[in-house]
Amino acid sequence: MLVLGVETSCDETAAAVVEDGRRVRANVVASQIATHAPFGGVVPEVASRQHVATIVPVLQRAVSDAGLTFRDLDAIAVTAGPGLVGALLVGVETAKALAFALGKPLVAVNHLAGHLAAAFLEHATPDGQPQVPPTYPHLALLVSGGHTALIRIDAPGQTRLLGSTRDDASGEAFDKVGKMLGLGYPGGVAIDKRAATGNPHAVTLPRALPGRDDLDFSFSGLKTAVATLLARRALPEGQEMNDFCASFQTAVVDVLVRKSRRALVREGLKSLVVCGGVAANRGLRAALATAAAEDGFALHIPPPKYCTDNAAMIAAAGTQLFERGARAGLDLSVDPGLPL
Ligand code: KG4
Ligand code: ZN
Repeated sequence: MLVLGVETSCDETAAAVVEDGRRVRANVVASQIATHAPFGGVVPEVASRQHVATIVPVLQRAVSDAGLTFRDLDAIAVTAGPGLVGALLVGVETAKALAFALGKPLVAVNHLAGHLAAAFLEHATPDGQPQVPPTYPHLALLVSGGHTALIRIDAPGQTRLLGSTRDDASGEAFDKVGKMLGLGYPGGVAIDKRAATGNPHAVTLPRALPGRDDLDFSFSGLKTAVATLLARRALPEGQEMNDFCASFQTAVVDVLVRKSRRALVREGLKSLVVCGGVAANRGLRAALATAAAEDGFALHIPPPKYCTDNAAMIAAAGTQLFERGARAGLDLSVDPGLPL
């Protein structure tokens, strides 16, 4: 079963071909980061225009990288939301045109369900072993630019939200603090890089909701604390910058790890899936690996290329949906606020 995934919800134009929901035959991502960087964030209108210019070559590249032609595909899966409305429209309208022209079935995928499905994509673990796909039920920690949530998943599509952020998403916190530190856009990768050689205890920063018995997150207090600190001093430089980044990153990671552990215990779950762009963060990956070894839960974090936005995860989620009988019509519309 060969499914073409199409993803244009934000600032990556992406297409991928996935076989049987697991094996990635091609994964093409055209990033718009350089286009948006001068503006310090994603400009929606610019994103839509860039998607229009890039989508057809990206689709052609994915199919040819897979060694296939469009006729070989069994279905087309496309992100229908949540995301930027104009950006989503480019992917959805292109996928509809392709499905119509080829006479292939179309499946609408929720971008967040796509992130959750990334854990099922075949990849080698850091020690070279093939990864074992997650079993049900499991807990998912979804950490991206737009979302931060703990979700209980009992079966594909059977999810229960246990907690989410009350204000900023974790990726948003990384990006906003990155901007305050003058590290450009997006801040997550820049902070991760500097934090690797920084002292996480150099700067004291708050951890939101540490003692409370809930599974919600809040990152706006941390962001304000950073802003207040920086208002009183010059921007850190050199090693001091690395220390600042490490201290901030650890403050975010601490809360994410603590709440994930709490959720696993509360729900009696033994398996944690981590997904979304922030799951690429090396500090988070290391802290969760330590927690998994200490607490004895199975940890599933896809390689970074499947954590950040991509279309392989959309094809994987689309395959699961297709197998359960989901089909979208040519009247498929986008929903920028689509919940999981
Ligand atoms: O999942 P994603 O690619 O797009 C959304 O659906 O939002 O996530 C993007 C977010 C951005 O906020 C970016 O700064 C963050 O993921 N991110 C990271 C890292 N790589 C991407 N944050 C921390 N460390 C990273 N290595
Ligand atoms: Zn995403």
